[in-house]
Amino acid sequence: MAMSQSKEQWGSRIGLILAVAGNAVGLGNFLRFPAQAVQNGGGAFIIPYLVSFFLMGIPLMWIEWGIGRHGGKYGYHSTPGMLDSLGKSKALKYFGVFGIFTNLAILAYYCYIESWTLSYVWHSLAGSFAGKSPSEVSAFFANYLDLGNGSKFNLPTEAILFFAVTLGINLWILSRGLSGGIEIASKIGIPVLILFGSFLAIRAFTLHAGESGAVNDAIQGFNFLWEPKFDSLSNPKVWLAAAGQIFFTLSVGMGSIHCYASYLREKDDIALNAATAGWMNEFVEVVLGASIIIPIATAYLGLDWIKANVGFEMGFRTMPTLFQNWGPYLAALAGLAWFGLLFLAGITSSLAMGQPVMAFIQDTFKVDRRKSTFILGTLILILALPCIIFYEAGAFNEFDYWAGTFALVVFALGESILFAWVFGINNAWEEITRGADIKIPLFFKFVIKYITPAFLSAVFIGSLIRPLNGDWKGAISSFISGKGWQLANDSIIGTLLNTGIQDTRWIIEGDITNVFIIDMTRLLLLLTFIGIAFMVAYSWKVKMNQK
Ligand code: ALA
Repeated sequence: MAMSQSKEQWGSRIGLILAVAGNAVGLGNFLRFPAQAVQNGGGAFIIPYLVSFFLMGIPLMWIEWGIGRHGGKYGYHSTPGMLDSLGKSKALKYFGVFGIFTNLAILAYYCYIESWTLSYVWHSLAGSFAGKSPSEVSAFFANYLDLGNGSKFNLPTEAILFFAVTLGINLWILSRGLSGGIEIASKIGIPVLILFGSFLAIRAFTLHAGESGAVNDAIQGFNFLWEPKFDSLSNPKVWLAAAGQIFFTLSVGMGSIHCYASYLREKDDIALNAATAGWMNEFVEVVLGASIIIPIATAYLGLDWIKANVGFEMGFRTMPTLFQNWGPYLAALAGLAWFGLLFLAGITSSLAMGQPVMAFIQDTFKVDRRKSTFILGTLILILALPCIIFYEAGAFNEFDYWAGTFALVVFALGESILFAWVFGINNAWEEITRGADIKIPLFFKFVIKYITPAFLSAVFIGSLIRPLNGDWKGAISSFISGKGWQLANDSIIGTLLNTGIQDTRWIIEGDITNVFIIDMTRLLLLLTFIGIAFMVAYSWKVKMNQK
């Protein structure tokens, strides 16, 4: 194994913690969390969510920090090498392909949403939404993305321009390195986003029925998210959604935490760092994330409207209209705060997705930062353009499903088993607790060995074969009586087999169909995965020859 220590290092502990917190705090906290919580019954979501955080999220963070710092000792900064250093099997490094693939593929579509936020900052300050009716603001969004143009292709010129600028900013920061780029961006980004978020949350909590055009008290929206309801505890759908949100929001199962941790020294603390970053993310998610979009929309549109219309596009289609009720200056300021916080949350996460890919390129091809930045930019363009051009036809959703949901669970399940069972729980525990600035309760050793892998297996199997309408009892009795298992269309197998689509032809009357685009997107993702696996094989061949 190569023992080359990387010269890159974190400049300060606070910089590291803010970078890792910035990795976790992202668009998921402000757009995905509120939408998931509302779609899964508000307060009914919160208990499965918190249980998933304790039994899966926090242990996985420790596992990933442990794997990362251990791999860093051998000079590895991406997951193929890190997993290789955990055991003897030659296959381990290929499992690590997931940690490059997810970062690359998520970065491609994530950076696109990030670019919308940048553009919306500009439009809020330029007054583009002033005097527009709700339907006009919604149409503005559709127009911005060139949606509903009757063709399979979207060619949104302005959106592509902002995407190029956003990608450029990401690459520029990445090219400046850890302490000179990512750390500075996080030190500025996180405090400013908390400031913006607090301003909006305070505005939301002081919004009462009859004031500034509000028809309800905004607090009703917050209460809907926070009043625990126990009826969800037996509903696997809510559990799956809660676990999925924990994955996305903590950025576990991606390979980015591993990379950040690999720049630590062998005896640096990871126990407290991981826990602090995790808790900071939860504060931003359940306190700030729950206090802005849902309460403000509740004040003007009511909970029933939200339940019917919630989704991550709501942040763009609806929020600018609601801000208009506060007068032109406050509306511009609120637009700056809302889209500015989204941009800062987004960029500190996308940097964390870029870094492991850059490190992998540098380690594999022995190129410097500048060249690896250029290669990363080219790869992102190749993957992002289909997301942009075929957004409406479903390419974007495919990226989100396979890279942003499916791959995270598979990788997290695999790495938790590898760390606790192949590397061995005693080694794993020693790795996590070495240099620790807090005493992790011994109970978590048991959790990491048994509960987290079991929890992840349940999440994976649950998603793989989810039955129609989530009716597990019915599906099991139908299976036992020999009548087969009726799959939900959005289960993993159902999605793969396109069971929800009546007509699966690729071409109808000379025109390509959405099914064609969806299948081609899957092929592109598969080829990306295979391509990375080949690079891993190449990298190891070179290493062997050098020995
Ligand atoms: N953890 C990041 C987010 O929540 C990816 O957006």
